[in-house]
Amino acid sequence: MDVYEAVTSRRAVRGFTDRQVPREVLARVLTAAAWTPSASNVQPWHAYVLTGAPLAELKKRAGERVVSGDPWDEPEYEQYPPDLKSPYRERRFAFGEQRYGGLGIPREDLEARQRAAAANWDCFGAPAALFCYLDRDMGPAQWSDVGMYLQTVMLLLRAEGLHSCTQMAWAKYRKTVAEVLAPPTELILFCGMSIGFEDVTVRDPRTGRAPLDETVTFVHGR
Ligand SMILES: Cc1cc2nc3c(=O)[nH]c(=O)nc-3n(C[C@H](O)[C@H](O)[C@H](O)COP(=O)(O)O)c2cc1C
Repeated sequence: MDVYEAVTSRRAVRGFTDRQVPREVLARVLTAAAWTPSASNVQPWHAYVLTGAPLAELKKRAGERVVSGDPWDEPEYEQYPPDLKSPYRERRFAFGEQRYGGLGIPREDLEARQRAAAANWDCFGAPAALFCYLDRDMGPAQWSDVGMYLQTVMLLLRAEGLHSCTQMAWAKYRKTVAEVLAPPTELILFCGMSIGFEDVTVRDPRTGRAPLDETVTFVHGR
């Protein structure tokens, strides 16, 4: 698979089969992903990879919280600016419409939306998951490095025939994740990532992108 194909075939997949992901494949992907660049090569990512019983235990604990209506853990970082301005607000709105509209859930049916969102904490059925932490002292440049790391992981997963879904939703249950992973207290959970083979019967519509001239400015010389 060439890089263009890896980039364009990567999607947030929200339905996985129970086919196991071999440990050596995950190790190969994460060994290559370690070559992700970072400012001054500080490599600020801390990845925890779960499969089998520990992942089942995490899903069980998270599922119990969903069922009991347990409130989310207080956030350790702001997922979006409180007053998301244009054009980002409209893009976020359009995503919500597409995601939940695609499932036949009307905007006003908050309960059905929450039910659909709850699939996050089952990792959409995935048999493997990665949890990405970084030191809480790190600044915006290091958070950006971590983003690059995650994209590198996702592209390498494509090369292995695997799919993924990055999930900030896991930060809402960060204490449950910490119960299972026991990370050092100086680490902050950015997100989880479900990993596995796509269940092609659960296809989301493909998300669109803003036209190129909204996000890219070419300044040509001669
Ligand atoms: C940092 C990050 C966090 C995300 N969190 C979630 C999440 O919690 N749940 C979810 O279903 N999708 C999540 N997504 C997936 C995005 O909704 C998705 O990437 C975006 O809509 C673009 O669609 P695509 O990835 O299919 O191209 C997240 C993506 C990123 C990069």
